[in-house]
Amino acid sequence: MEGIQSIKQRFEIIGNDPKLNRAIEKATQVAPTDISVLVTGESGVGKESIPKIIHSLSHRKHAKYIAVNCGAIPEGTIDSELFGHEKGAFTGATQTRSGYFEVADGGTIFLDEVGELPLTTQVRLLRVLENGEFLKVGSSQTQKTDVRIVAATNVNMFEAIKKEKFREDLYYRLSTVEINIPPLRERTEDIHLLFRKFASDFGQKYKMPTIRLQDDAVQLLLKYRWPGNIRQLRNIAEQISVLEESRTINLPVLNGYLPTTGDSNLPAVIGQKGKESDFSTEREILYKVLFDMKGDLNDLKKLTLELLKNNDTEKVQEENETLIQKIYGENGEVNVPDSEDAMEVLQLPERKPEHADTTAPTMASSPDKYHFAEEIEEEETLSPNQ
Ligand SMILES: Nc1ncnc2c1ncn2[C@@H]1O[C@H](COP(=O)(O)OP(=O)(O)OP(=O)(O)O)[C@@H](O)[C@H]1O
Ligand SMILES: [Mg+2]
Repeated sequence: MEGIQSIKQRFEIIGNDPKLNRAIEKATQVAPTDISVLVTGESGVGKESIPKIIHSLSHRKHAKYIAVNCGAIPEGTIDSELFGHEKGAFTGATQTRSGYFEVADGGTIFLDEVGELPLTTQVRLLRVLENGEFLKVGSSQTQKTDVRIVAATNVNMFEAIKKEKFREDLYYRLSTVEINIPPLRERTEDIHLLFRKFASDFGQKYKMPTIRLQDDAVQLLLKYRWPGNIRQLRNIAEQISVLEESRTINLPVLNGYLPTTGDSNLPAVIGQKGKESDFSTEREILYKVLFDMKGDLNDLKKLTLELLKNNDTEKVQEENETLIQKIYGENGEVNVPDSEDAMEVLQLPERKPEHADTTAPTMASSPDKYHFAEEIEEEETLSPNQ
């Protein structure tokens, strides 16, 4: 069986945390079977690699792998997306259409955010899981399919069951094996490693020297709660890589990029009005708003500094035209939405149907990425103080 280290390289998974290793090991163990797997863990912990690993190591690897984001498909169309529909089944159904369960016959379907499935769809899914049978919407003719299901959720399924939003029988069918991905704050040893990997990637992407953290900043990185987990760490590495002129980052600078959230229960601020199931989307929107604000603030700081240094408004204006336009908009108007608009965005996250990813997971890694772990080790020996 392929070793865990080589799987990590293949799927570009960074880290050596024992719980993460165990999760990957579990994925390799269940891969050759048809057991249903439920991947659990907070938002941004890296759940999406698990179904890809399972599919790639299974006998289904040459058949289709379809990832469906259940939370992004409107309730009215999800049955048709998953199971297909007959011509004339509803207004606009001008042709018979195959659903993902038909298309992925012989392969794997990844049901991301499975807790968001409407109850009616849950009934259909239970049937497929029990005997491989399903009905197209508007049809009474049973069809058969042979699909391996891997599901993922970042919500507490027991809560959902208690609130009768999720069927208990379906939960047990889906979670024959549960693979939990630990939050980043519990993977202390991996945090700086991941940060350096992202800093190196973004340094290359934006053609700038890689940022490095001073020791006190590293300590802050390790203590922070990371409510958005690896996704948040990556975003912050990107922002700092782009916005900071000095490539050595000290504690106050890093601190400026970390949202101060008290107990870090960020979503509680906006969790009142929206559906509870919109939790993770709202959190992401809030991060984005905070990051954008921080970005604007940094731009303003730079501009003020230029003004102070040069004492020549016209020159500064000329030299920083793009920055000024970014902050103040095309016509010099302040580019800030009024508070009502902003609240609407926060409470009503847009839910567009997403195209399912019908491509097989990438099997090959570029040699550069492959050698990243070695690169880090080299850096460590060369720079013992970093
Ligand atoms: N161990 C890791 N090494 C490198 N990158 C990682 C790792 N874990 C996660 N990532 C990256 O972090 C980001 C978030 O991961 P992913 O999309 O899998 O999160 P998730 O658990 O599915 O979150 P959500 O519940 O919000 O969908 C992705 O860009 C992913 O590539
Ligand atoms: Mg995900």
